[in-house]
Amino acid sequence: MKAVQDYIKSNKKKFLDELIEVLEIPSISADSKYNKDVRKTAKFVASKLKSAGAKKVKLYETEGHPIVYGEKVVDKSLPTILVYGHYDVQPPDPLELWDSPPFKPVIKKTKLHPKGAIFARGACDDKGQMYMHLKAFESMIATDSLPCNVKFMIEGEEEVGSDNLGIFCKEYKKMLACDVVLLSDTSIIANNVPSITTGLRGLSYLEVEVTGPNRDLHSGVYGGAVANPCNILCDMIASMHDKNGKVAIPGFYKDVKTVSAKERKEMNKAPFSLNQYKKDLKIKDVKGEKGYTTLERTSIRPTLDVNGMWGGYTGEGAKTVLPSKAFAKISMRLVPNQDSATITKLFTKHFKKIAPPGVTVKVKPHHGGTPAVTPTNTPEYKAAALAMEKTFGKKPLPQRSGGSIPIVALFEKVFGVKSVLLGFGLDSDDIHSPNEHFGLFNFYRGIETIPYFYKYYCELKK
Ligand code: BES
Ligand code: MN
Ligand code: MN
Repeated sequence: MKAVQDYIKSNKKKFLDELIEVLEIPSISADSKYNKDVRKTAKFVASKLKSAGAKKVKLYETEGHPIVYGEKVVDKSLPTILVYGHYDVQPPDPLELWDSPPFKPVIKKTKLHPKGAIFARGACDDKGQMYMHLKAFESMIATDSLPCNVKFMIEGEEEVGSDNLGIFCKEYKKMLACDVVLLSDTSIIANNVPSITTGLRGLSYLEVEVTGPNRDLHSGVYGGAVANPCNILCDMIASMHDKNGKVAIPGFYKDVKTVSAKERKEMNKAPFSLNQYKKDLKIKDVKGEKGYTTLERTSIRPTLDVNGMWGGYTGEGAKTVLPSKAFAKISMRLVPNQDSATITKLFTKHFKKIAPPGVTVKVKPHHGGTPAVTPTNTPEYKAAALAMEKTFGKKPLPQRSGGSIPIVALFEKVFGVKSVLLGFGLDSDDIHSPNEHFGLFNFYRGIETIPYFYKYYCELKK
């Protein structure tokens, strides 16, 4: 292990230069204007996998963006780790809120990253974290210390729902056969409080359209006499939470698996300062479901949120208009046992039912996702915990996350294996927001920790 760690130490600058290079390519999967850049990023990842020592490196074409695959099979009798990551990123908008351009990475110190952080779209989610795996692999190959087989599957559509990766996994099930999936696309609690993600929420995402009169009207001539879709949509959305902050869709909580009092007590022991949380977000108070702490509200409880809303006149100045239509994008985060398709159905039925007679409504489902939980009594969790303890000098805490990585549940279904969510970001790294960043400490700590995971996993699987 010393040779690997020495190799990492002496290649820090090279690793960072390469990360900067990949962050410079705007691989925005949601926007077809960037299709060429998405492909360029896939090719970059493939070439780095190849030069690190992977075999059978190939871009697999899909209906959408390509999947990068590569493997190193040393001995069929040894365990196989399937590394998953995504090279696509979220759109960087609103651009004016970035302190430096999203695809011109810069390194700056911050309060939580005194050794510097790299600022760019995708720095943490997930290019920076995905790249740690390539460099850890390179370091093990270069020092002849790869202890098992490894397969890489890096996709370009995670931020748009991973539909094509799901098809790919089923089609290439044999090629992808593995003992465990390893990914870094989540967070730790703090740089001195390591943690391993043991749960992800599911997702039901949809768009609604409310239509009133057949055209935009003068809000003076018609106002007060005709249902205003913007007013109505606000009413309808407001009615979807009761006074205790519970989602008011009938049946919404029916399948929610209750978390034991003991487990809740345990999870609330994680270091967390509500004051710091409020200060960081510049809010006077938090808001959420009554009877649950902030940590619980963002991990073990389902939610409903408007992600965007529009209709009528939103340009400069004033235009007196009673809009014909109003729209909203709504996400519901789901927890174990809730089913995305069932929740989408319940929402649709309820939304249609509460629409007053003056309007008509449409509901268009977008992507969904199944929640996932990972047990802590498996060789893979234990190996991850030992690896983190080795590099952080502290036992990591298990923690359920509020985010979603829908493909993780599919891995379990198709490959029959669990995933290890060995993330190294911080929740405050502004993923999906302006000024996304990733600590250099986190980047290097990830590269150092991954080879230990391989080592301990192989030892525990013997
Ligand atoms: N890496 C995130 C998910 C995440 C972030 C998990 C932080 C835990 C902590 C992933 O790229 C993501 O953004 N997922 C989307 C869902 C997807 C279907 C667009 C999400 O959670 O909104
Ligand atoms: Mn991600
Ligand atoms: Mn993301």
